[in-house]
Amino acid sequence: MSHTAASLREQFPLLAAAPELHYLDSAATAQIHSAALDAVIKHETTSRANVMRGTYRLAEAADLAYDRARQSAARFLNAGSADEIVFTSGATASLNLVAHAFGSTLNAGDRVLISVAEHHSNFVPWQMLRDRCGIELALIPVDADGRLDLARLAELMGGRCCLVAVTQCSNVTGAWTDVAAIVAAARKAGARVLLDGAQAVQHGPQDVRAMDIDFYAFSGHKCFGPGGVGVLWGRADALAQMPPFLGGGGMIAGVTPEKSTWAAAPQRFEAGTPPIAQAVGLAAALDWMMTLDWAAIREREAALCRRLIEGLVGIPGLRLLGPQQGQRAPIVSFDIPGLHPHDICQVLDSQNLALRGGHHCAQPLLTALGAETCTRASIALYNDEADIEALLAGLDRALRELA
Ligand code: ALA
Repeated sequence: MSHTAASLREQFPLLAAAPELHYLDSAATAQIHSAALDAVIKHETTSRANVMRGTYRLAEAADLAYDRARQSAARFLNAGSADEIVFTSGATASLNLVAHAFGSTLNAGDRVLISVAEHHSNFVPWQMLRDRCGIELALIPVDADGRLDLARLAELMGGRCCLVAVTQCSNVTGAWTDVAAIVAAARKAGARVLLDGAQAVQHGPQDVRAMDIDFYAFSGHKCFGPGGVGVLWGRADALAQMPPFLGGGGMIAGVTPEKSTWAAAPQRFEAGTPPIAQAVGLAAALDWMMTLDWAAIREREAALCRRLIEGLVGIPGLRLLGPQQGQRAPIVSFDIPGLHPHDICQVLDSQNLALRGGHHCAQPLLTALGAETCTRASIALYNDEADIEALLAGLDRALRELA
């Protein structure tokens, strides 16, 4: 079924209550859909109990809801099995989990390949692993548009490359990664592939099996669900080979005073009480997303993105960071030399325009693109032409006020 942006916007309680708001920061946090909010409230008021522990009926209802949430996440990703879904607190926790658990199977001199375009959450954990264990950390460079430059990919995968961990879509430039090329090269080198899907998931369901990857990480708050929950999907054999990251209740097969043995995945990676209601809310958001006509939504998002870029290139002195053409996510960043993004964002905020300015937790990428900071507009399925025209008019006013 095809939906207008206005009919979609009405389904987001915060946006419905603030018709004057031009929310253009969905790459930081997308708004929560009413189905997700309702599911959280329903769960907390009818089925709240801990999971995988209780035998009374309320606890069984909580178990069932949590299991169903895992199945929804598996369907959203086209995973082979719900047991491949690990609930975490967010993409950052998912990435740190792999860096610790998969990382502990690596030896000094083994190589992990990431890219210059990574968000700090897929950069810093690998630097920490390198400093802890002596792995080699290699970097795929970017071209002038911020796209991953794969010209030297085979060479970069030389040596003992065990894992390629890259973003599916840059949170700064909107550039999509050529996943097929990365996977083909990784398979040749015998390396596993991790995709950071944080920015991709709000633009539609994913197919981890078709992509033929090994790990996929994302956050609930970026795909219209609650905060505080995320997913790590891992291919069954990849999860089976990893020791746990966090120890605690729920992740063991048995504990004696001398030692512990581990539960199978996904429980092995879910120590302690998981984010139960948040997982249930996330599942409702994912179930809702799976009912949408994504071809139509992506077409509309792309048209808004083109209109924004057209308007921005006419502004004297403004430099766009990222590709102006070709396939890209609707994330548009720009730098106006002499003007700090925080000042720009403040003037835009006074006109009810919500945008993020700063280094966007991607300092290596910004350095490679020759900028320290930038202002970013990110478009989601509830945005429309009025948001884009308001931004262009708002920028015009910001430039006059800050000149
Ligand atoms: N990763 C989020 C962003 O890019 C927070 O804004």
